[in-house]
Amino acid sequence: MSYLNSLFSLEKKVAVITGGTGVLGSSMVKALSNAGAKVAIVGRRKDVADELAKEINNSGGQAIGVSADVLNAEQLNNAKKTILDRFGAIHILVNGAGGNMPGATIPVDKTFLDLKIDDFQKVVELNLTGSVLPSQILAEPIMTAKNGCIINISSMAAYLPITRVVGYSAAKAAISNFTQWMAVEMARKFGEGIRVNAIAPGFFLTEQNRTLLTTSDGGLTDRGKAVINHTPFGRFGKPDELASTLVWLCSDGAKFVSGVVVAVDGGFSSYAGV
Ligand SMILES: NC(=O)c1ccc[n+]([C@@H]2O[C@H](COP(=O)([O-])OP(=O)(O)OC[C@H]3O[C@@H](n4cnc5c(N)ncnc54)[C@H](OP(=O)(O)O)[C@@H]3O)[C@@H](O)[C@H]2O)c1
Repeated sequence: MSYLNSLFSLEKKVAVITGGTGVLGSSMVKALSNAGAKVAIVGRRKDVADELAKEINNSGGQAIGVSADVLNAEQLNNAKKTILDRFGAIHILVNGAGGNMPGATIPVDKTFLDLKIDDFQKVVELNLTGSVLPSQILAEPIMTAKNGCIINISSMAAYLPITRVVGYSAAKAAISNFTQWMAVEMARKFGEGIRVNAIAPGFFLTEQNRTLLTTSDGGLTDRGKAVINHTPFGRFGKPDELASTLVWLCSDGAKFVSGVVVAVDGGFSSYAGV
């Protein structure tokens, strides 16, 4: 085995990724598979998960699509059983499901007083509980074996809240906090074999933010311009730019790394704007 493989290979590992059907998630699925892991792609859209699994299996990897809502314990337990029946273990959990919801964003001409509390709760539930509950259920084999890792997906909104996006910002700040809490909890209760880290992507064009950041003719909205002006690299991220950070955090190369949130953001979180 080459030096780099001994550090970063995910061969013989089984990875589960919620939100594996999404834009960033599907790119992370490919990264895990390319690094040697067998991958279970979890999402509510089973057809999309199956299609991606087929693509991976056809190109020499091993993957299955599994249907589950990250807020439904029964569906997550069924998903765990399906994955264990097929692959026999779970070593890596990526909590990739999440996103903002239009109702939880305050429109430009409205104020905080117009915030719909139901939408606020939904977005907090999806992004926070939607990582906590899968960690309890899908990462239970990791705790039983005292071996493996959990990767959460945080956001730029966790460092400094983003205007108008109150629920998502609060939930992602909570994800960074939960990552640190879990890192300590896992190490103290189960030992150093379990690591918990997070990736905070900068701004990547995906379905959840495309209309907020770009116009129908491919230009930038005012908000899109504000994002680009605040990104020292002057562009949005490309999904495959998360791959090497993900593989590193999941691999033995990061075996003394736990509780960190790694920004992959073209410099956004370091820039004061001046
Ligand atoms: N795009 C960005 O710039 C950016 C920046 C920072 C962080 N993030 C985070 O990165 C993650 C992926 O986002 P994305 O941009 O790739 O968005 P996306 O393409 O909209 O993907 C969202 C994923 O979440 C899944 N999902 C949503 N609700 C779910 C539920 N109740 N149960 C199970 N799965 C559910 C969706 O799968 P199904 O529809 O199949 O259920 C989909 O795979 C999210 O956590 C997001 O907050 C994105």
